[in-house]
Amino acid sequence: MFRSVILAAAGSSQVERLVQSVPLSRNLVSRFVAGTSGDDALRVARELVGDGLAVTLDYLGEDTTTAADAEATRDEYLSLLDGLAGDELTPAAEVSVKLSALGQAFDEKLAEEHARAICAKASESGTTVTFDMEDHSTTDSTLEILGRLRADFPTAGVALQAYLRRTEADCRELATHGSRIRLCKGAYSEPESVAYQTRLDVDKSYVRCMNILMSGDGYPMIATHDPRMIAIAEDRAKWFDHGCDDFEFQMLYGVRPEEQLRLAEDGYTVRVYVPYGTQWYGYLMRRLAERPANLAFFARALASR
Ligand code: FDA
Repeated sequence: MFRSVILAAAGSSQVERLVQSVPLSRNLVSRFVAGTSGDDALRVARELVGDGLAVTLDYLGEDTTTAADAEATRDEYLSLLDGLAGDELTPAAEVSVKLSALGQAFDEKLAEEHARAICAKASESGTTVTFDMEDHSTTDSTLEILGRLRADFPTAGVALQAYLRRTEADCRELATHGSRIRLCKGAYSEPESVAYQTRLDVDKSYVRCMNILMSGDGYPMIATHDPRMIAIAEDRAKWFDHGCDDFEFQMLYGVRPEEQLRLAEDGYTVRVYVPYGTQWYGYLMRRLAERPANLAFFARALASR
């Protein structure tokens, strides 16, 4: 109930205007977001990489409605990747991209062209791209675009969401040599017809999908903060004889930072998803929906104004 209300607010432009009109405490946004510019993102990336972590940088923005905005998003990624070329951060730093920010909703071909330009620049810069997964109406289109891009850029990766009923089958299809799959639980509000609704069912699906990915030929990216899922992944790594270079853990910037360091100290690759930019509203609302304690943090920040 709590989750659906917050996720409904995440899609409301009226609530967005209201929240953005409140001069939010810098602490609140900066807990989850690296800053507004590419330089902010690179500064945070350097700190994390200095601590033994890897990063994936995400330029915030989604559901772009104009070609000009889609082009601006592409250009931001191109310039970020230019900054990474020859930098000591590569290959520890890669980028994460939302196709909806590149125009997927109004012109799939355009989004694919922009995505291709980003993959080409990433490849020149010696790093990789992972495509985020958005609401279920975009899954087919995202996987089709990924399939075409992978023909030229085999390291292009994608997120799959364990809450979707289809994901076990998608994992089976994609757990092939060289394929980079980020398994997450899923962050959007989805109907029962396509998605498991209870935490238990989502967790069970997560474990089934993880089993498929960890026993397959691809490179699993286990994106979760859930201690039980992390423990099961460690167990499966032993079971399937995966070394620390055969898979990685991923977590969000600002969430369970001590656990990120603990896993890295244990020898695992841990990649932190670092968002930056001014379009933080949808991202922040999804983080609030995941954890009531984050809402208390949000409320305290508002009250302290
Ligand atoms: P869940 O939210 O169920 O939390 C389980 C447990 O984890 C909690 O009970 C608690 O123990 C611990 N925990 C969680 N948050 C904590 C906190 N703030 N502090 C302390 N403990 C905490 N989603 C999507 O739909 N598309 C995408 O492309 C992506 N991409 C993505 C990339 C990466 C790198 C990550 C880590 C996540 C995503 N997600 C995503 C988000 C994902 O789908 C999911 O919403 C969040 O990761 C939260 O789910 P968890 O697996 O962490 O478990």
